Amino acid sequence: MKKNVVLIGFMGTGKTTVGTLLADRIGFTFIDTDELIFQYVKMPIGDIFFKYGEQYFRELEGNMIQTNIFKHRIVLATGGGAILNPNNLRIIKKYGIVIALEASIDILWNRLHRCTDRPLLLVDNPREKLEEMYIQRQPIYREAHYLINVDNKLPEEVVNEILLLLK
Ligand code: S3P
Repeated sequence: MKKNVVLIGFMGTGKTTVGTLLADRIGFTFIDTDELIFQYVKMPIGDIFFKYGEQYFRELEGNMIQTNIFKHRIVLATGGGAILNPNNLRIIKKYGIVIALEASIDILWNRLHRCTDRPLLLVDNPREKLEEMYIQRQPIYREAHYLINVDNKLPEEVVNEILLLLK
């Protein structure tokens, strides 16, 4: 396979776990934009949001995507909001095989409601916020080349499905 693989999808869909396993299986390098940002700013994502604001985070996210997508043989996991910027979506679709991981709202809520490291959900009514973001983003995730539903699947099962798609 020549092209890079890019994982998109809502927070909590398992992009980092699946991406790490997938990269290992196909001998590609795994890159996670949140991790790159963390290394660059040397601050957890939540602190970046609170100290510098979401817009600054989005600028870094765009830069990380637009520089790393040109590397060879990578699996790139993007943050859940990365595709809100149409330039990010355009470039990953042009230079990568884009796979969206999808999960139902209830499963995401179960996975996320106790997390403290998702700044966008640290609001008075996180469930309502989750639903609002889900509805807004779902059509954009569906612009991926492939969609995989991850409900009740182990990361290894998701990786096996991706490998079948990539064949
Ligand atoms: C975000 C998702 C997070 C992280 C940041 C914003 C989002 O990444 O980039 O908290 O807007 O959905 P994960 O999707 O890896 O949780």
